[in-house]
Amino acid sequence: MKSILANVALASAIVTTLWTSAAAADPVEVKIAYALARDSHYGAAADGWEKAVSEASGGRYKFTHFPSSAQGGEREVLEGLQLGTGVQAAVVSSGTLSNFVPEAGVTDIPFLFRDLAHGRAVLDGPIGQSILDKFEDADLIALAWGEQGFRHITNNRQPIEKPEDLAGLKIRTMENPVHIAAFKAAGAAPTPMSWPEVIPALQQGAIDAQENPLSVIVSAKLWEVQKYLTLSGHVYSTAMLVVSPDFWNSLSEADQKIFLDGAKAGQAAMRGFVDNAEKSGVEKAKAGGIQVNTLSAEQKANFQAAMKDAYEGYYKTYSKDLIDQIIATK
Ligand code: PAF
Repeated sequence: MKSILANVALASAIVTTLWTSAAAADPVEVKIAYALARDSHYGAAADGWEKAVSEASGGRYKFTHFPSSAQGGEREVLEGLQLGTGVQAAVVSSGTLSNFVPEAGVTDIPFLFRDLAHGRAVLDGPIGQSILDKFEDADLIALAWGEQGFRHITNNRQPIEKPEDLAGLKIRTMENPVHIAAFKAAGAAPTPMSWPEVIPALQQGAIDAQENPLSVIVSAKLWEVQKYLTLSGHVYSTAMLVVSPDFWNSLSEADQKIFLDGAKAGQAAMRGFVDNAEKSGVEKAKAGGIQVNTLSAEQKANFQAAMKDAYEGYYKTYSKDLIDQIIATK
């Protein structure tokens, strides 16, 4: 009898051990949200982040992806992160970031960055880091900057060649005060709305135009709803890889480092994708049927001059000194 009981006890100990180790081996789920498809630059960032975390943690974390605004607009996603009620991680555009940390809006100033290398140098330097750090006070943990490329205008009215062509143009902007001020100053009728509303609004003719980088224009096949693409390159469009404070505080210090390094790997993947999109995007858009014109340096200067009033506001909000430091960054 004694030996039967001993065997039962042994068997149950084995089952418990097996069950416990199976449970311990179950990876922790990290829900990650972003606005575009899995095969966009956003998906590239999320995939790069996931791969690096999975490798460094020995597979202890598994990302569940919510692409294509499946968790709502970026403002809702960021609010969910703050409250710890939504996903644990997100890749978001600069669209709404300045509503959470006003300083983030400085990167949205039109015609501020010369090229991708200039943008990256600023984001990777002290200015970029000091903006990331400010997110902690807004109940968000910003781990790395991402990017989308340079924004260009698409519309259904006419090729945009001079500021006057913007007169009264109903152009969707992100919910971003810096962009709204710039288009207002240039005479357009900026209509801020969240990304999930944009394609239906273009289809229904509620707006004439929108502006986004080639990475987005190609990923969203905007030629299906827009006739003209003007390569204006008016804004270097940034993004961020963010996690919720609840999730961050649940991690050990070692795992926080894994997520931080992983976010940098996601940033590198996003930049690689954008490099390709900037090279091949125009041909893809033309093949889709959109008519393309490119603004010369002189034409761009006319648009910048037309946005002069907005610049007065930017100097007040961000200080001329900070803007000059960004321009001086090599
Ligand atoms: O225009 C926007 O809202 C953004 O660039 C993107 C990535 C399409 C969605 O946030």
